[in-house]
Amino acid sequence: RAWRWGWRLTYLSSIAGVAWVGYGIYQDRHPDEQIEPDPSKKTLVILGTGWGSVSLLKRLDTENYNVIVISPRNYFLFTPLLPSCTTGTIEHRSIMEPIRTILRQKKASVKYYEAEATSIDPERKIVRVTDNSEVKGATTETEVPYDMLVIGVGAENATFGIPGVRENSCFLKEIGDAQLIRKKIMDCVETAAFKDQSPEEIDRLLHMVVVGGGPTGVEFAGELQDFFEEDIKKLIPEISDRFRVTLIEALPNVLPSFSKQLIEYTESTFKEEKIDIKTKTMVKKVTDKTVEAEMQGPNGKEKVVFPYGLLVWATGNAVRPVIRDLMAKIPAQKDSRRGLAVNEYLVVQGTRDIWAVGDCAVAGYAPTAQVAGQEGTFLARLLNNMAKTEALEEKIRDLSGSLNLKPGNAAEVSREIEEYERQLRRIKDVKPFHYSHQGSLAYIGSEKAVADVSWFNGNVASGGSLTYLFWRSAYLSMCFSSRNRLLVINDWLKSKLFGRDVSRE
Ligand code: FAD
Ligand code: NAI
Repeated sequence: RAWRWGWRLTYLSSIAGVAWVGYGIYQDRHPDEQIEPDPSKKTLVILGTGWGSVSLLKRLDTENYNVIVISPRNYFLFTPLLPSCTTGTIEHRSIMEPIRTILRQKKASVKYYEAEATSIDPERKIVRVTDNSEVKGATTETEVPYDMLVIGVGAENATFGIPGVRENSCFLKEIGDAQLIRKKIMDCVETAAFKDQSPEEIDRLLHMVVVGGGPTGVEFAGELQDFFEEDIKKLIPEISDRFRVTLIEALPNVLPSFSKQLIEYTESTFKEEKIDIKTKTMVKKVTDKTVEAEMQGPNGKEKVVFPYGLLVWATGNAVRPVIRDLMAKIPAQKDSRRGLAVNEYLVVQGTRDIWAVGDCAVAGYAPTAQVAGQEGTFLARLLNNMAKTEALEEKIRDLSGSLNLKPGNAAEVSREIEEYERQLRRIKDVKPFHYSHQGSLAYIGSEKAVADVSWFNGNVASGGSLTYLFWRSAYLSMCFSSRNRLLVINDWLKSKLFGRDVSRE
């Protein structure tokens, strides 16, 4: 009997789940009519369509402002699954969500300009924007005035001015980067398999070097080794014993932000996967075929040269030029090095009406999607409250003014004012931003992952195949939309059943 009830419940909850997803899809395809923005309201300009800005947009009551979004990228990118796109485990469009679709779901319409902000003038309250897309119209540059500005432009790749890095490396930040890596892996493999290729050249072409042992470098190295083991090796067996992956890290270990036990687990897993980790090795120069580094050995520093076919550079973040330019205009930012210093309400120090979120802001947290997302959500609440506060204050002003005009209704009007004042006190009481760390996850290859997860004020560290299932379900649930979720599941199934697609576009 208990079994029967168990089955019934499972059946009903599955139907409810499917109905819920179906309703979500229907809502997305048939959004309500949008209201036009009210020109008397303040203009809120939001720069960027990444984790910070999109989390803000998701929760912002757009009817309170004239909202304008400016970004050269007309989609949101789910970065945690980007390393999987470099090998075709996931197709790139599965983790992109068009910004137009996101904005169409809002109650009041939002303007979007596909452009890059090139400079911000906090005195004149103006953003200069440039259309850098391939198709150019008669106007490619203009100014956008703002009353309030939110900056969420993220960061660019750090190269530390090391010679040859920009010219010869692939990075891993955007969709285009992942596509280029995918193309280059197969280019190296096919060129190595070319008739009469010399053994030294085959070794060089099949040597895949990753610089930077942070989560980006580690996840990419794991994905690459999987690709080789599960697909390349089977399709082109003649080169199978020559393919090598080397991960170079300047510090004594990889994944410095994870717990010691998980660092050891990752390093031992990489050893089993035959990924060569070179720690205490600092890259100093890159040429078109070699990486030159300084390795700290037992007898001091020694120079090492790694010939490579593919080089992926993943050494973290640097400040974008538009942010550097703005920082130079604000005296209060002169000591900030890693981005815009913000206060506990994410207001850019030394400015009025400018906020910053995500990787371009320095709030004392790591530059992660989790932080950017929570900052965006916090700012949405703050801006919604500010709009409500202004509306309530205006109502109180109007009612106070009408008290003398309608002496007969004085008691009723006073009660109304009191009610608005009570609402105002509640709304005004916004606590400063506080980041709540949910944990860190990273895929390390061979269907294994590591996780440092916060659990009842403590920390649980785990690594292995079960953690991999947790990693998959966590990222699946975090995907932006039901569409993304279905596409990602489809890609996982497809690459498992038929293998990854090795054709080169
Ligand atoms: P972004 O998401 O980078 O968005 C910046 C936006 O600004 C983009 O839309 C961009 O086009 C736009 N922009 C750029 N320049 C301009 C300009 N001049 N004017 C206007 N707009 C501009 N974090 C995690 O917490 N968990 C993970 O698993 C994880 N995995 C990652 C995997 C990879 C491969 C990478 C690269 C990062 C990963 N991160 C992860 C980090 C996370 O992606 C970033 O911290 C996060 O994207 C920061 O959000 P953001 O909004 O500040 O910037
Ligand atoms: P990172 O800053 O975390 O790591 C870069 C690594 O490169 C450092 O360990 C550094 O010592 C090394 N390095 C720098 N210069 C070097 C040189 N010349 N030679 C050799 N090594 C050098 O950068 P990453 O991995 O790109 O991550 C950026 C941010 O995104 C981080 O905050 C990270 O937590 C987050 N992220 C999180 C992920 C996750 O949670 N799964 C996945 C990817 C990124």
